[in-house]
Amino acid sequence: MSERGNGNESLVEVKNVKTYFPIRKGLLQREVGAVHAVDDVTFAVSEGETLGLVGESGCGKSTLGRTIVRLLEPTEGSVVFEGRDISKLGTRSLRPLRREMQMIFQDPYASLNPRKRVGSIIGTPLAIHGYEKSQRRQRVQELLEKVGLSPEHYNRFPHEFSGGQRQRIGVARALALNPKLIVADEPVSALDVSIQSQMLNLLDDLQKELSLTYIFIAHDLGVVRHVSDRIAVMYLGKLVELSPAEDLYKRPIMPYTEALLSAVPIPDPDLAHQRERIVLQGDVPSPINPPSGCRFHPRCRYMTEICKEVEPPLVDYGRGHLAACHHPLNVDRETLERVRVSKGQTPASADEDARPQEPGKERARPIP
Ligand SMILES: Nc1ncnc2c1ncn2[C@@H]1O[C@H](COP(=O)(O)OP(=O)(O)OP(=O)(O)O)[C@@H](O)[C@H]1O
Ligand code: SF4
Ligand SMILES: [Mg+2]
Repeated sequence: MSERGNGNESLVEVKNVKTYFPIRKGLLQREVGAVHAVDDVTFAVSEGETLGLVGESGCGKSTLGRTIVRLLEPTEGSVVFEGRDISKLGTRSLRPLRREMQMIFQDPYASLNPRKRVGSIIGTPLAIHGYEKSQRRQRVQELLEKVGLSPEHYNRFPHEFSGGQRQRIGVARALALNPKLIVADEPVSALDVSIQSQMLNLLDDLQKELSLTYIFIAHDLGVVRHVSDRIAVMYLGKLVELSPAEDLYKRPIMPYTEALLSAVPIPDPDLAHQRERIVLQGDVPSPINPPSGCRFHPRCRYMTEICKEVEPPLVDYGRGHLAACHHPLNVDRETLERVRVSKGQTPASADEDARPQEPGKERARPIP
């Protein structure tokens, strides 16, 4: 059945998932291409874990999140939830699963119907799943309290609330049916910095109280650091690095992660001064015609010929740290040697000229 990670049973397994959006043209609406939004992604999330999912805008984070909770059907590959393949289930078979998997959306203004009262917004999933009216009211009021609002807010409209409070309504709605998995799609990026940490604390408390599993999507590595057990980095539809959180911050292996890390603000001005800020050149290329070889090569400062030609495989560097790069950073010679000789892990494309860093001489500085 499921694999094991972090000592716990996997709740979700994403296996070679591709989600493409067809591009159609002309009178006959012929398919002339596709947006490769998620392109062959594999990982698992354990029960009770928080997996941070980061990457620049357009790299496919939301599409992957929506595919996992089956708001989208994967083009290829499978999503396994509690040991059951749910990738091809139809609407009817999906209904009971909707209780188990919920999403919190980025924009608390757009995601709540302005014409509906709070009671109805949070109560709708309960109504769909057969709760009686009286039970619904009680449950909604309970949920309002749980997310730090008041039961008296039941009859109010969304416009009567601040951004932070609206996001709490979104959280209450997601919690209504006692889900196991919550995909939180940039839940704090629309909020003022001053209230972001309150929201993160609320999500953290709820996770402990309700044994929730989170996939937490964010643009940058700063937000997810303190909430994630592990972090997955995406670039142009690909998973390029996956690691326990602390290890990723101390020892990024893939140059894209290094660049993302260098952009995380450091509170200490002395340290901030010392750290090199890597400015990524150019925009993210189009996911319609992604670059050959390593998709990051047009913007990578370590790029060599092989990067243009051969796609680097996702290699396990030990202790759950995986990365896809021909010139891995922060990997000692011994590990590199082990990776080269280990069966099944050897990058077919291993580059003889790769110059790994010795441990201790980390190129990317950890965030204090
Ligand atoms: N319904 C759709 N139809 C066509 N293309 C889409 C659709 N949804 C997303 N895309 C495209 O797929 C790619 C990935 O989009 P996605 O929204 O998943 O990225 P993201 O990482 O969540 O970005 P952001 O950080 O801006 O939210 C983008 O190029 C986007 O334009
Ligand atoms: S494979 Fe090459 S281009 Fe890609 S991240 Fe590694 S060094 Fe850069
Ligand atoms: Mg998104």
